[in-house]
Amino acid sequence: MNKGTDKAMEFNTKAVAPETIKADCLAVGFFEDSGMTAAARRVDRLSGGAIRAAMASGDMKGKRGSVVVLRGLGGLACSRVAVVGLGKSTDFGDKAFADVVTATLRGCGAGASSIVFAATEWKVAGRTAQWNARAMVLAARASAFRSDELKSKVAASGDDERNRKLRISLLADKRDRALDEGLRQGEAIANGMELTKRLGNLPGNVCTPEFLAAQARKLAREWGLKVQVFDRRQIEALGMGSFISVTNGSVQPPRFIVLRYQGAGGTAFADPVALVGKGITFDSGGISLKPGSAMDEMKYDMCGAGTVLGTLRAVAELKLKINVVGVIPACENLPSGSATKPGDIVTSMSGQTIEVLNTDAEGRLVLCDALTYVQRFKPAAIIDIATLTGACVVALGNVHTGLFSTDDALAGELLSAASAASDLAWRMPVDEEYQDQLKSNFADMANIGLPGNAGAVTAACFLARYVKGQSWAHLDIAGTAWRGGAAKGATGRPVPLLTEFLMKRAG
Ligand code: BES
Ligand code: MN
Ligand code: ZN
Repeated sequence: MNKGTDKAMEFNTKAVAPETIKADCLAVGFFEDSGMTAAARRVDRLSGGAIRAAMASGDMKGKRGSVVVLRGLGGLACSRVAVVGLGKSTDFGDKAFADVVTATLRGCGAGASSIVFAATEWKVAGRTAQWNARAMVLAARASAFRSDELKSKVAASGDDERNRKLRISLLADKRDRALDEGLRQGEAIANGMELTKRLGNLPGNVCTPEFLAAQARKLAREWGLKVQVFDRRQIEALGMGSFISVTNGSVQPPRFIVLRYQGAGGTAFADPVALVGKGITFDSGGISLKPGSAMDEMKYDMCGAGTVLGTLRAVAELKLKINVVGVIPACENLPSGSATKPGDIVTSMSGQTIEVLNTDAEGRLVLCDALTYVQRFKPAAIIDIATLTGACVVALGNVHTGLFSTDDALAGELLSAASAASDLAWRMPVDEEYQDQLKSNFADMANIGLPGNAGAVTAACFLARYVKGQSWAHLDIAGTAWRGGAAKGATGRPVPLLTEFLMKRAG
């Protein structure tokens, strides 16, 4: 079972001459336009022109992702050399770097269990060598990740591929602490992302609110966090009538989870960054039932919660000097005789009343109470993460996370963290003008705006009513937290973005 503490892959740096490397494979790069990288030229010279010969034969043109494996080269201690096509150096970006790492691992051969990447010279414009180290780890770990813990055959067989140990090294000119640090960051972020992915991929009948609570307790035990889990009675006692209205149709008991990581100096839990994650373990839409096609994908509706857990894991592993509180309202959204009905009016913990015009707009109903609750920690910033709207998918697809914030400075920090972490986000508006759409004749607000009219924005505007005077941002990850189609599965986003943001905040 993948617990996200996978030691099947180990990473280190090697500051040695390429010819002395005794690994199963040495991977050197080759640009389509500028030709061989320094390591490739050196291998070519030592081997008496083996790479040049491959080029002359037409086997190797440097096309991005092409891998030519040369064996038994003279002058080298390494049994294989993988010559990796990097494509054109002029358009070698973040994604190209990740793609060629993945292609190398695939191309090296099943027998290679130790691979040395000469990847510091696979230069991406604007990126440091430390970034390369981190990105190499993330790409390698992503390519090895499987969600097969519920496949009976895998569990039974002492399987080859998944038990294969891989030692991956980054070749360096000289000892460089920044590279080791890059590897360490990459591993912590990969561990966090894998936790997030695993929870996202588990089905609703396994990953229930109580299952999420058990994961939170386990995380707390393993990483020294404080954890509290509130049950239905306690949630009611806190006055979270809006949250409770969403769980009413389900027989799975709801959970309200609070996790605290204390990394900053001092004895008080002061000025934490608050992460609030939507934890709908299955969203059928409730009485406003969703259409049947692809409804299974609504098991991913707890990816905000998964992101909070994954980010806390990364933060704890990196021992960041910052305080973080994670809050997760977790429940199911199902129809039944006891479910909330369209038109029902509920009272949130803040005292504001809500007319539930559509029971499928449930994310904001659980988040608003969590946003009210978390203010008791006097947070320095509140960031909520939610698979909140289909409208955000329409607007941004699965490339950019929607970023909404009433605080320009916080939005700026998150956008720069997003680009530093190659975990893209795009700022969307939350202007007052949209608030009109949430007017209700019978309550303080409605839970939906006009159909087909800026749905991602009005959802954010609803949340904004619960964080007045706070430094707040909302990440709509409906399009980025998972992929549909053949490569169906959770992506682990935006754990890299948030971890980067917290690393910067921690200084
Ligand atoms: N969990 C969904 C949002 C969602 C939709 C995520 C598709 C990923 C893919 C959310 O609870 C929802 O149902 N939102 C509604 C809101 C509407 C009723 C105002 C939506 O987007 O349709
Ligand atoms: Mn919904
Ligand atoms: Zn939902």
